[in-house]
Amino acid sequence: MEDHQSCGGKAQFSRAHVEKIPAQEGHIVQKPNVLITGAAGFIGSHLCERLLSEGWTVMGVDNFDDFYDPKIKRQNIADCLKNKNFRLIEADVRDEAAMDKVCSSGVEAVIHLAAKAGVRPSIAQPLLYADVNVSGTVTLLEAARKSRIDKFVFGSSSSVYGNNRKLPFAEDDNVDFPVSPYAATKKAGELICHTYYHLYGIRATCLRFFTVYGPRQRPDLAIHKFARLIERGRPIPVYGDGTMMRDFTYIDDIIDGTVAAIEQLITWHRGSAEQTAAFQIYNLGESRPLTVNELVAELEKALGKKAVKTHVPPQPGDVERTYADITKAARELGYNPTTPIQTGLARFVTWLRSTPDIM
Ligand SMILES: NC(=O)c1ccc[n+]([C@@H]2O[C@H](COP(=O)([O-])OP(=O)(O)OC[C@H]3O[C@@H](n4cnc5c(N)ncnc54)[C@H](O)[C@@H]3O)[C@@H](O)[C@H]2O)c1
Repeated sequence: MEDHQSCGGKAQFSRAHVEKIPAQEGHIVQKPNVLITGAAGFIGSHLCERLLSEGWTVMGVDNFDDFYDPKIKRQNIADCLKNKNFRLIEADVRDEAAMDKVCSSGVEAVIHLAAKAGVRPSIAQPLLYADVNVSGTVTLLEAARKSRIDKFVFGSSSSVYGNNRKLPFAEDDNVDFPVSPYAATKKAGELICHTYYHLYGIRATCLRFFTVYGPRQRPDLAIHKFARLIERGRPIPVYGDGTMMRDFTYIDDIIDGTVAAIEQLITWHRGSAEQTAAFQIYNLGESRPLTVNELVAELEKALGKKAVKTHVPPQPGDVERTYADITKAARELGYNPTTPIQTGLARFVTWLRSTPDIM
């Protein structure tokens, strides 16, 4: 386990350490210390930045695995490392001793985003996916339990809905039929969160993210992969006839929903929020799905270039469509995604063109 102290000075992680933030109606007055796993990843690094900018104190855990180039992850987290309220621990979430140590250093809530992501690679490496995503989650929950941390946010996925026919997908739909090892590990993560809530009173919120995109998006995901190929004038692989549908969701909207979920857990704890049940699942999606063909047309406009499509057979493990019903998140978290695909893609392209080493 490597501890990267933030260069701004020694961050304190005692329970007594709280940032004093001026009180505003409906806002948390004292911003607690939180632990974010997967901190250097796409979603994790955006979440760290947002919380730090709002005065939270953040401990990040990441093992910089090689699912994609770890150099990209080091770039993702570089700005956070300049903040005195940030501390990075280089460790694996499956490492029991390391997780015990980070959880016992005064964090009030855990936001668990570290995972092996991606549907197709999970078919090639099911044991590794089960190990990181399931054993890693149990290890972290155990560490949280031992340190009496009672707030836990779990990064789940729309993939748990499998090929459900009913649209849009709602949180109380049956999710017993995942179609990839990745999806099954995410469902397992939700189940184990419920178990720890039931046994030990750890309040858990599972957030089902729907295809997240924006600056720093993982290079394996369609928008990033397609954009790079179109920029270079190379053909893009379109699986099936391009009618597969995805609910593409802009990163800032996902972060808004995630922060609202963390705040809900914390205010719940302090008794000032409406008393909702302490185990929750929320969809965080855009709720405006596009077919892959529609996405490519939007990308062509954003890039100002025509795509050359190569149709290839649909991939095992891919679901046919995703479409989030966000009624519950809107009602209970005030979640309100506001970034249309045109705006989100324009921002993504600006970012892509400003990072030539990723191109
Ligand atoms: N991006 C999406 O569209 C999407 C959709 C649904 C769910 N999710 C979930 O959201 C979370 C974040 O996804 P992302 O897109 O930011 O992925 P990402 O790969 O960019 O981030 C995951 C981070 O976890 C780290 N990590 C992996 N294994 C680890 C381990 N054993 N110990 C410590 N750190 C480890 C990686 O190094 C990486 O930095 C994941 O749990 C993913 O399954 C993402």
